[in-house]
Amino acid sequence: MKIIVTGGAGFIGGNFVHYMLQKYQDYKIVCLDALTYAGNMETLVDVMGNLNFTFIKGDISNRDLVFELFKNEKPDMVVNFAAESHVDRSIEDPGLFLQTNIIGTGVLMDACEKYGVKRFHQVSTDEVYGDLPLDRIDLFFTEQTPLHTSSPYSASKASADLLVQAYYRTFHLPVTISRCSNNYGPYHFPEKLIPLMIANALNDKPLPVYGNGENVRDWLYVEDHCCAIDLIIHKGSVGEVYNIGGHNERTNLQVVKTILKELGKPDSLIQYVADRPGHDRRYAIDPRKIYNELGWLPETKFDDGIKLTIKWYLDNKPWWDHIIKGDYQDYYNKIYGNR
Ligand code: NAD
Ligand code: TYD
Repeated sequence: MKIIVTGGAGFIGGNFVHYMLQKYQDYKIVCLDALTYAGNMETLVDVMGNLNFTFIKGDISNRDLVFELFKNEKPDMVVNFAAESHVDRSIEDPGLFLQTNIIGTGVLMDACEKYGVKRFHQVSTDEVYGDLPLDRIDLFFTEQTPLHTSSPYSASKASADLLVQAYYRTFHLPVTISRCSNNYGPYHFPEKLIPLMIANALNDKPLPVYGNGENVRDWLYVEDHCCAIDLIIHKGSVGEVYNIGGHNERTNLQVVKTILKELGKPDSLIQYVADRPGHDRRYAIDPRKIYNELGWLPETKFDDGIKLTIKWYLDNKPWWDHIIKGDYQDYYNKIYGNR
């Protein structure tokens, strides 16, 4: 079995590469990654010497490069993690999101069709469903929830999902789609809530909470997510969408306060800042379909996963310190400077 994993130098893709190489010692994994600001070879340092692993630097929207790669590697499956993934950046520069998230997905599927790939798996997001009201805790996203996006990021991911479904219906490309909730865990780029708050707290810097901090996310430990994708690509039904997540909802303020408590830092580090435009209120997944069909439920409770995550950031300071001392400073000043 040979799998092309795109975006494998990023957060979830990197965890998936580690997970698959460890679990399937006879599988070959080829990582295709453009190494944007979010891609990091230090995430892959442990697997670079593994004979079952190959790394190719390249852009998924570069048709010639992608077709050449598929011709040479003849993959059995493709799992597409490569994306521009941060909502705040999509508000600053939507165009890049359209190029990578939509055009790139289309190029990969064209190559899958041409070279007879047996499964194209699209890693999508629950953000394609828009948001849920805060005062209706009885409501959850199911696979039937209509697409209703808020940000350029979520709109680009929803567009890609529609394209994937169109390739299934029109060209019979064997596809699956998963829509997960917010991931957390090792190798998470510190522009996202949890790693940003851990890094700031450890450096005694203010923790910027958007709005009143009452927005809710349904936190999914990244290893649980890798396990779900593994099940979908091996046992999931072609043409189907699977939601991944559930039962780990927290307000942003609860998350931030938990991090401060675990690190022994004061709540006075919390700084309320201007809200994100179009800020989604609540995400919450109903995982019954993936549970009923594939027997998957998230195993890691948030209270355990956050401890594991904090420990990882304490044990791996060089990994994130290197990031926050680079171009990240300019990004940080741009997003938070006048907030
Ligand atoms: P990430 O930003 O950490 O990593 C993205 C990776 O893709 C990086 O290694 C980057 O270099 C690479 N990349 C970007 N543009 C590329 C291009 N044009 N060609 C090739 N490589 C490119 O993202 P992540 O958090 O690991 O997310 C992975 C996937 O999961 C994305 O599709 C994202 O939409 C989805 N997702 C993420 C979350 C989350 O909580 N992080 C939640 C739901 C869905
Ligand atoms: P984020 O990690 O960017 O993921 P997403 O927007 O895709 O859910 O943000 C998670 C939540 O945390 C979201 O409600 C926005 C909020 N947030 C802050 O309050 N402060 C921050 O500095 C960041 C990055 C996010």
